[in-house]
Amino acid sequence: MSEATTTPQKLYPIPAPRLQEFVQSVLTANGVSPQNAQITASCLVQADLRGVDTHGSNRIPSYMERIRQGVLDASADPTLSQTTPVVALVDGHNGFGFPAAHMGMARAIEMAREFGIGMMSVKHSNHFGMSAWLVQQAIDAGMMSLVFTNSSPALPVWGGREKLMGVSPIACGAPAGKSKPFILDMAPSVAARGKIYKALRRGEKIPTDWALDSEGKQTDDPAKALEGVMLPMGGPKGSALAIMMDLFSGVLSGSAFAGNVTGPYDPSKPADVGHFLVAIKPDLFMGLDEFKERMDYLYQRVVGSEKAAGVERIYFPGEIEQDMKEERLQNGIPLSEAEIEALNKEANRAGVDPLKVT
Ligand SMILES: NC(=O)c1ccc[n+]([C@@H]2O[C@H](COP(=O)([O-])OP(=O)(O)OC[C@H]3O[C@@H](n4cnc5c(N)ncnc54)[C@H](O)[C@@H]3O)[C@@H](O)[C@H]2O)c1
Repeated sequence: MSEATTTPQKLYPIPAPRLQEFVQSVLTANGVSPQNAQITASCLVQADLRGVDTHGSNRIPSYMERIRQGVLDASADPTLSQTTPVVALVDGHNGFGFPAAHMGMARAIEMAREFGIGMMSVKHSNHFGMSAWLVQQAIDAGMMSLVFTNSSPALPVWGGREKLMGVSPIACGAPAGKSKPFILDMAPSVAARGKIYKALRRGEKIPTDWALDSEGKQTDDPAKALEGVMLPMGGPKGSALAIMMDLFSGVLSGSAFAGNVTGPYDPSKPADVGHFLVAIKPDLFMGLDEFKERMDYLYQRVVGSEKAAGVERIYFPGEIEQDMKEERLQNGIPLSEAEIEALNKEANRAGVDPLKVT
């Protein structure tokens, strides 16, 4: 059996602008500059809006804990150094990963506008949540992109049993014409580890093919799964993708790698995460209109493909999340009571207005 049985929870819809304002004020009260707080809150709420709740505002308590533990520098500002006309490096100085990666993608876009491509390495950074916000940053500027990051050990390499590689997402995207853009954002595990933390928070079970417990046995208990290892998707192929993320993000940048990135819940030292970002101008080999027409044709071919038995609709990568965003912009972001309580605990500590539920 790989389907989890879940107990439905009462969820309270919070309007996105209110959640953004709330997260921003908790961040600034904890020493983050208004500009960095705005970027960070916007990225977290974008994840909530796209239905990637595992990497949204719920991360605030664990992020604030890292500031209190002195292993994340809330007041740090990223700095940039140009390496070649199309390559630059951001040093995150152990501040939030969101402003460091945002600065990296902004510079990659500028270089791509001028030279066709921009490549960025980001070092001494932290967790930047859902990779798709960076892909969206590039799409908003009309650019294709690659977005890689490494992360703390959670996954054995193929054939191994110890946590060594991160469940590090691989993401990329391309703008389209009239149709939805292409946004691939996937962890190389059967499921992202954040989904296990979410199940734990909500008292839910998990599918048995997501992880093994500490004894190497299948489990539907999120707590036991977190003591064990995540399972890579596609066996050696998922394991190889995780190594690829570590190589491009960790080895190349000068950040931690090979199992040395510190986990988000480990207070012993800074995370030292690395990222790798590329922006590509889509009209390098033909006019922009032609590129967009070709993207629209690809979209139509994919979603219009003959469906397998029992399938109602075929989606383009990123489309489910985009539909979810439209729905949540209208109806609010659903948070459970426990999640709101955890956020309001931070609000109390920070002396800012709590989230109210009706
Ligand atoms: N920063 C980090 O260290 C870190 C680590 C792990 C995961 N994450 C984030 O966690 C999030 C979740 O990752 P995941 O692997 O669980 O994502 P997922 O399995 O929900 O989706 C993976 C990809 O498949 C596409 N997809 C899903 N269902 C589809 C369908 N029916 N038809 C067509 N396309 C479909 C999605 O659009 C997405 O691009 C990502 O945003 C990732 O960036 C971040």
